[in-house]
Amino acid sequence: MKVLVIGSGGREHALCWKLAQSPAVEKVYAIPGSDGMRDVATPVPVASQEDILDFARLMQVDLTVAGPETVLAEGLGDRFRDAGLAFFGPSQAAARIEGSKGFAKELMKKYHIPTAAYQTFTDEEEAAAYVKTQKFPLVIKADGLAAGKGVVIAQTAEEAEAAVREMMEGRAFGTAGTTVVIEEFMEGEEASVLAFCDGKTIVPMISSQDHKRIRDNDEGPNTGGMGAYAPAPVMTPDLMQAVREKILQPACDAMAAEGYPFVGCLYAGLMITDEGPKVVEFNCRFGDPETEVVLPMLDADLAEIMMHCVEGTLSEDDVRWKDGYAVDVVLASEGYPAGHTDGDAITGLEEAEQLGCHIFHAGTKKKSGQFVTAGGRVLNVVARGATLREARDKAYEGVSRIQWRGMQYRHDIAAKGLKHLESK
Ligand code: AMP
Ligand code: GLY
Repeated sequence: MKVLVIGSGGREHALCWKLAQSPAVEKVYAIPGSDGMRDVATPVPVASQEDILDFARLMQVDLTVAGPETVLAEGLGDRFRDAGLAFFGPSQAAARIEGSKGFAKELMKKYHIPTAAYQTFTDEEEAAAYVKTQKFPLVIKADGLAAGKGVVIAQTAEEAEAAVREMMEGRAFGTAGTTVVIEEFMEGEEASVLAFCDGKTIVPMISSQDHKRIRDNDEGPNTGGMGAYAPAPVMTPDLMQAVREKILQPACDAMAAEGYPFVGCLYAGLMITDEGPKVVEFNCRFGDPETEVVLPMLDADLAEIMMHCVEGTLSEDDVRWKDGYAVDVVLASEGYPAGHTDGDAITGLEEAEQLGCHIFHAGTKKKSGQFVTAGGRVLNVVARGATLREARDKAYEGVSRIQWRGMQYRHDIAAKGLKHLESK
C-alpha cells in the first residue's frame, strides 16, 4: 500500500518511519516532507489542498495521514473523504476540539469531562471587569489556534487585564483572540495521553510527558516542546483507567453524539491534580514531541491501526506496546524560541546513530551533501532502554556526539519521571 503523510517536522518523520515498517506499506510520501526524512519517505513539494488531493489520486495513495492541526482545521480530511479516499484525521467540524478552546470547553462542560472551571468572553470590557473579581493565578486563553502561544498565566489582576486587552484589542494572535477563555489555574503535573479513535472506539496509547519550557527546571519561555519520554510514571494504571473512562471515551462519545465523530488521533493534554486528571486541552492530532517517543514503543502495525480507524473497526487487539521506555532530547538552534538561526552545519549524526539512538529531523536541510540547521527545533535524539534511566543516558550519550554552532538543549529531560520511580 502507498501512504502519504502531511507535514515536515519531527512528528511527521516519526510517523513516516513507523508507517514504513508496516509489512503492507511499499511506499511513503511526505508533503512537503524534508531532506531528513529521505531515509523512509519521498518528499513531495506540493502546496495547496487541491494539489494534495490531486497527488493522492494520481499516485493512488491508499492512506493519507495528517500531521499538523492547520490542514485539519482547513478541512483537508473532508476533501479526502468526499473524494472517497482513506484519511486518518478528523473532519473540519471535529477538529474544532483543538481549533476552538471555547468549543472544547463547552463540549467538556456538557458531557461532564473534568477540566478547569471557565468563562468565555467576546466583549473586552466584560472580560476586563471579570478578571478583577477572580483568584490568582488566572489563565487567559485566545480562543483560536495560536501555535501554542495563546495562553497567559496571570499572577495579578493587572497582568490579567493586560493579557485580555492585548488578545482582544491588540489582536496579538490575529482573529484567534477575538474570543477569550478565562479559566481557573490547575495545580499539578502535566502529562499527555494520545488515543487512536475510529469515531466510536478509542484505544489509548502509552502516556508521555512533554517539556514545554526552553530551559532546565521548566524555566524560560514556552517552546514547541524540548523533549519527551514515554511512558510517564506519573500516569499510574489507575490514572490511565480514569483518563480512559472519564475523559477519552466520553469525549469520543460526545463528538459522535453531536454529529461529528472523531476519526484520528485524539490528544488529551492533562493536569494531574489532587482531584484526579483534568483536561488542559484537547488536540486533534499527534503531539510533537510526544509522537517521537510513543511510536518507537509501539509494537504493532501502525498502517493497519490507522486503516482500522478509518474503517471504523479499531480494536484493543490492534495496539500493543514494547516493554521499557523511550526518551527524546530535542536539539534547538541558537536564538530559539524567540527566533532561530539557519544554515549551521551539523556533525555527529552517524556517531549518535551508531550508539543506537534514532534521529528524527525537525528542522534540517541538506546543503552540499551535509545537513544544516533550518528551523528552531532541529533534531530529536531518541533512545529506548529497559529502564527510564537507561533510555535517558543513551539519548544524552547520542546528544554528546552531535554538534553545531549555537546548539541548545535541556539537560533534564525525563528527570521528573525518574523522580517518580525513585520515590516508589
Ligand atoms: P494550552 O495551549 O491550553 O495547552 O496551554 C499551554 C500551557 O499553559 C499548558 O501546557 C499548561 O502548562 C498551561 N495551562 C493552560 N491552562 C492551564 C490551567 N487551567 N491551569 C494551569 N496551567 C494551564
Ligand atoms: N506537545 C504539545 C503539542 O503537540 O501540542
